[in-house]
Amino acid sequence: MNETNRHLDNSVNSANAVSSANSVLLTRAEILRWLRESDEKKLAELWQQADATRQQRVGDAVHLRALVEISNHCIRKCSYCGLHVDHQNLTRYRMNTDEILACAHEAVEFGYGTIVMQSGEDYGLTKTFISDVVRRIKSETPLAITLSLGERMNNELIEWRKAGADRYLLRFETSNPQLYEAIHPSLPNRQSDRFAILRFLQQLGYETGSGIMVGIPGQRFDTLADDIVAFGELDLDMIGIGPYISHPDTPLAKKNDIYTSLDSQEQVPNSELMTYKAVALTRLVCPHANIPSTTALATINRETGRELGLARGANVVMLNLTPVHYRQLYEIYPAKTCITESAEVYRQQLLKSVEAMGRHFGVGPGGTKR
Ligand code: 5AD
Repeated sequence: MNETNRHLDNSVNSANAVSSANSVLLTRAEILRWLRESDEKKLAELWQQADATRQQRVGDAVHLRALVEISNHCIRKCSYCGLHVDHQNLTRYRMNTDEILACAHEAVEFGYGTIVMQSGEDYGLTKTFISDVVRRIKSETPLAITLSLGERMNNELIEWRKAGADRYLLRFETSNPQLYEAIHPSLPNRQSDRFAILRFLQQLGYETGSGIMVGIPGQRFDTLADDIVAFGELDLDMIGIGPYISHPDTPLAKKNDIYTSLDSQEQVPNSELMTYKAVALTRLVCPHANIPSTTALATINRETGRELGLARGANVVMLNLTPVHYRQLYEIYPAKTCITESAEVYRQQLLKSVEAMGRHFGVGPGGTKR
């Protein structure tokens, strides 16, 4: 047995190993060691283990999701995000029902099984508006519906589930409470608790997704290890992991405070390599999860980021079907890939590389099978 296999294997018998149902067990210490590993040969073993686990547990299908960014209004002040409420020279938009339905029909036409409706935390998208859109999509198409609309009220989440929404995405971004608070100012009279919302979504029967950014200023290596441990404990269906990309019009890009300036030995870099490590380790801890190779990853490596993510644990790609004139306004970080490209052209290019990897596009909704 070589060094790396031992590295992974030893953990099976260790105390405090992290696991969700039937996962490869990894201790927090093992995760931390991998996050600090720089030897390319050892890392090749991690990629291989992640890819083998992906293949055994979720197969060779790459599930495509049609992403529609339905509004860029947001009342929150998340200090890293270009949509934050104080970003005043951003033109705001909100799609109407017909526009969203047109995207849903386009998604069906191009063979997608899922539509993901994403927005800032926009209460102009009312409970009734979203319920009606969900009902219409469900009655007119066979699509699975994923919502990603922020920290909405319990009664809204209940209503949308009743209307037929299948899944909900809400990244917890970091499991460190101090860092979380430093970068996510709460709304007045409402303490932000994304873990509580995630548990509530699970109780409602949503397939539930979460995720993090890698290399957010103030993120320590042990915090990132804790994030990956948390993925296992939450037993999530979907986990999105992308590198933090600084946006010049955000508070985080402009200031450094106590939480966001760490010693360079402690600060997780927002690098491509670190993102692959987080994706690969997450696949080992949550083998059944649907894990996208994210747009942020494809943004920092336009040539091969998407493919390398798929080769190192990921099994999902979200392609942007937002009308192009809105898409460029959904600038959560700068130079986002797929701003102008046609999703269809991109899909065809992706198909070639997916087939070159011996894999294929999934058919149908592509939910988690447990
Ligand atoms: N860099 C990378 N990812 C970001 N997100 C928001 N802002 C940024 C940024 N500057 C991610 C968050 C959010 C998701 C929709 O986009 O993780 O949950």
